[in-house]
Amino acid sequence: MTAQCIPIQPVSATPAAPKFPLDQWYMAGFSTDVVDKPVGRTFLEQRVVMFRTADGQVAALEDRCCHRSLPLSCGTVEEKGVRCGYHGMLYAPNGQCLEIPGQERVPSKAKVRAYHIAEKNHILWIWMPREAGGAPTCEAPDYPWHNDPRYTFGTGAYHYKAPWQLIHDNLLDLSHLGYVHLQTIGGDARLHMNAGMQVTQDGDTVKVVRQMPGSRPPPTYKAAWPFGDTCDRWQEIEFALSHLRIWTGAIEPGTDSIDDPQRGGFHMRGLHGITPETEDTCHYFWSMSSTRHPDKPDNSQAVIQQTAFTFDEDRLVIEEQYRNIRQFGGKPEWIDIHVDAGGNRARRVVQRLLAASA
Ligand code: FES
Ligand SMILES: [Fe+2]
Repeated sequence: MTAQCIPIQPVSATPAAPKFPLDQWYMAGFSTDVVDKPVGRTFLEQRVVMFRTADGQVAALEDRCCHRSLPLSCGTVEEKGVRCGYHGMLYAPNGQCLEIPGQERVPSKAKVRAYHIAEKNHILWIWMPREAGGAPTCEAPDYPWHNDPRYTFGTGAYHYKAPWQLIHDNLLDLSHLGYVHLQTIGGDARLHMNAGMQVTQDGDTVKVVRQMPGSRPPPTYKAAWPFGDTCDRWQEIEFALSHLRIWTGAIEPGTDSIDDPQRGGFHMRGLHGITPETEDTCHYFWSMSSTRHPDKPDNSQAVIQQTAFTFDEDRLVIEEQYRNIRQFGGKPEWIDIHVDAGGNRARRVVQRLLAASA
């Protein structure tokens, strides 16, 4: 048996009313997470084991042997599938048992539930269906920036002791940069709080655009790009149910237009895959892709390090926020301020998709 077992967590088999939107792709991790060992993770209160077969395909099954319920993530990966670490039953990527050691006949009902999984742009996506075994009704999201030669990217992951929507709120409201992230991407808090903000919606996608011309370049930008005393910053945040894409950066004043998608300067493209684990916990998979300046060829390393530092700061805030919410007996009637427009729209999208999943 390997040391891949995951801690026991309460799991409800098929909840009467869904707690999370279903018939959706969610981020399950990065390609590099699943190599030669089974990986057990809980998505939407369903325990799943992921593994990679000899042909390079990633598969996902219910993390429970149909014999005596040992998690399959405690087993080993073989050429054709995953072998249970208790009595050695071997499971194919479609969940069917292929072999029972010492027994000739394999009953057809010796099988476990399989999930559809897609691997694209170095990302693993899992389809969480309304009905067990339901097939995807759309393609997994595209994320071309991981394959774009103009960018270099690095990745990271958190297990959060907080519900997923608190992270949506945080990422759709970047006004907090001037208070939370002064050591990396912050800057002048007043400028952040007063930046003009446009919030738009296209179907289930919410977009927030903020611009801050005449900003003082924050430490991460200085480390990555030879800015002078000021720069013109943009922040473009796109929320979709499974992930947020945050395109931020800055140009030197008097060069390109800040509105031009082809603008030069320093670019950071953040991927934020937020996948519920339970009602109180979630997975947060992130990547940061950034452009390189010819005079600072090693800037990507600094950007990744500072991004990780920045996200550590967010985690402290959000987990402390949730701890306090619970201490005060649950979510109260919050008051809204001007920075909440994007986050509130995203909450309405989640609510609508949840209702559609019932
Ligand atoms: S528990 Fe898996 S083979 Fe017995
Ligand atoms: Fe933040």
